[in-house]
Amino acid sequence: MINIALPKGRLGEKIYEIFAKAGYECPSIKENNRKLIFENPEKGVRYFWVKPSDVSIYVERGAADIGVCGKDILVEYSPEVYELLDLKTGVCRMAVAAKKDFYDDGQRTLKVATKFVKAAKAYYASKCRDIDIIQLNGSIEIAPILGLSDVIVDIVETGTTLKENDLEVKEEIFPISARLIANKASFKFKTEEIEDLAKKVETLIG
Ligand code: PRP
Repeated sequence: MINIALPKGRLGEKIYEIFAKAGYECPSIKENNRKLIFENPEKGVRYFWVKPSDVSIYVERGAADIGVCGKDILVEYSPEVYELLDLKTGVCRMAVAAKKDFYDDGQRTLKVATKFVKAAKAYYASKCRDIDIIQLNGSIEIAPILGLSDVIVDIVETGTTLKENDLEVKEEIFPISARLIANKASFKFKTEEIEDLAKKVETLIG
């Protein structure tokens, strides 16, 4: 049995469809209820719906053998897992954004609001730019509008959230997409099953 942690939400549902097509279907997952664990012994799979940012925790600690999470999470938390495959879905980017008229003249400490503290610190350290980090948990776009920060470091997908709040991308930091990750011990003991799944999924996504 392979235990698979999927991110709850649109991305997870898309990923499940890919896995199902690859031969790892679990029809009960489509039942309209609030269950979080589904298994199909025939196909040797058990799926868990977990909060997207928690997938790597389940996989790192071995509660799940494999899982799917964004590259942003892997960069931010550096979990001790194997990154097996770029699933080429959930594509977006980590970027610096600010009000359209904002220009960083480098004269004073830059106030940066973000959920991604490590990624933001690493980026500005690479530019030798002094920053003051303001750690937020969501709705980051509001920070520069209210003067809480000069810029934000956040995920941009369609750009709609920025646009609707009169902000714009100033710098791109790194590209993001969903990754298939594996627990290190599971990969050792279930090498064949996990590699088999990864290969089938890879063939499907091309
Ligand atoms: C993410 C991100 C942006 C938005 C970008 O937010 O933090 O706010 O999506 O998407 P867009 O470019 O397509 O508009 P999320 O929905 O995860 O919510 P939160 O960060 O506010 O919690």
